[in-house]
This record gives sequence, structure tokens and C-alpha cells, in this order.
Amino acid sequence: MEARSQLRHRPTRADNSDYSTKMTRDEAWQLLCEFVKSESLRKHALAVETCVAAYAQEYGEDEEKWRVTALLHDFDWEIHPTLPDHPVKGEAILAERGVSEEIRRAILSHATFTGIDRVSKLERALFACDELAGFITACSYVKPTKSVHDVDVAGVKKKLKDKAFARGVNREDIAVGVAEMGVDLDVHVGFCLKAMQARSAELGL
Ligand SMILES: [Fe+2]
Ligand SMILES: [Fe+2]
Repeated sequence: MEARSQLRHRPTRADNSDYSTKMTRDEAWQLLCEFVKSESLRKHALAVETCVAAYAQEYGEDEEKWRVTALLHDFDWEIHPTLPDHPVKGEAILAERGVSEEIRRAILSHATFTGIDRVSKLERALFACDELAGFITACSYVKPTKSVHDVDVAGVKKKLKDKAFARGVNREDIAVGVAEMGVDLDVHVGFCLKAMQARSAELGL
């Protein structure tokens, strides 16, 4: 709740959304790389971007905006490795950098404890893709080839039921994510898998 009021009342130039939504995908990538040095965290951002951008295309939404949101959703993880500093304190930095309120709200909403409901399609897609992109990455790494091209929907679903596998991935978040998006789990997994396979070289998978 506190984060919500900060978002609403903090006076920033970002309050002019016409100005602030102009951050490009490449500017977001530069901002991410300024704050994130870990290769794996950068790859996570790219994986989530891949899935979210595919949904933007599917829904006919603003792909650039969706890409910026996904790339920046964990940008402050290295400087704020504990909750709720991530993403609440990170949001203030994004406001200073001119990131729009719409994008900042979506980023805050990917953390359930902020109390910010996921309402927009962008917010719901970000949440639904975040944990699943990480999970598909984990499924790729255990293949002999370490390739996402060797991962299939049935294998992902089987591993989701295996509690010992990739314990850090919250299965409940994935279930909530697909319910909020109103999509079937199989369809969502297949959709994200296909998107990640199409960008496997850049994702290192
Ligand atoms: Fe996060
Ligand atoms: Fe994430």
C-alpha cells in the first residue's frame, strides 16, 4: 500500500507519461546493463522480454513499451537483493530516469507483496512470464545439449510437478499468472517456449 501511494504522489517528470513512455528498448537495455553485471540476470531479463514481447505482438499492444517493462523488471536486484527493497526502491530510481508511471506500476505489480493489483494486460503478462521464463531456462540447462530446442511442453509440465527441481521457481505464481491472463497452462508454456526457441542464440539456450 505504501508503494502505491509513493507511485501516485511522488512528483517526477515521469508523471508526464507522453514524455516518459518514449524510453526505447535499447535505452532500457543500457539502463539494465548499468545496474546489472551478472550475465545470468541479464539473460533472465532477455528471456522475460522475449515472452512478454511475443504476447504484445499477439495482443496487438505496444511492443516497445512491453519490452522496456520486461527488461527493467529486475534491474535493481543486484543493488537491492532483499525484499521489499526490490522492486520498491528500484521504482524510485526508474522514476528519476524518466520511466513512465504505467511501466513502473507494472514493475511494482510483479512483486506480490507490494499490494499493487495486476490489472492491465501488460501487468498480467509480465507476472505470468517472469517465473515461467526462468523455469524454461532451468529445463534447458538440464538437457544434455543445454538447448531450449530440446525442451517440450510435456517435459516442462512434468518438471513443474517435481518439487525438487528448480525450487526457487514459485509454482503458485505460475498458476496464478495463467489464471489472471485467462490462458491455459499448456498454451502458455507452449507460447513462451516457442518465443524463447526463436531467440535461443541471444538467450544462450
Ligand atoms: Fe523481481
Ligand atoms: Fe524476474
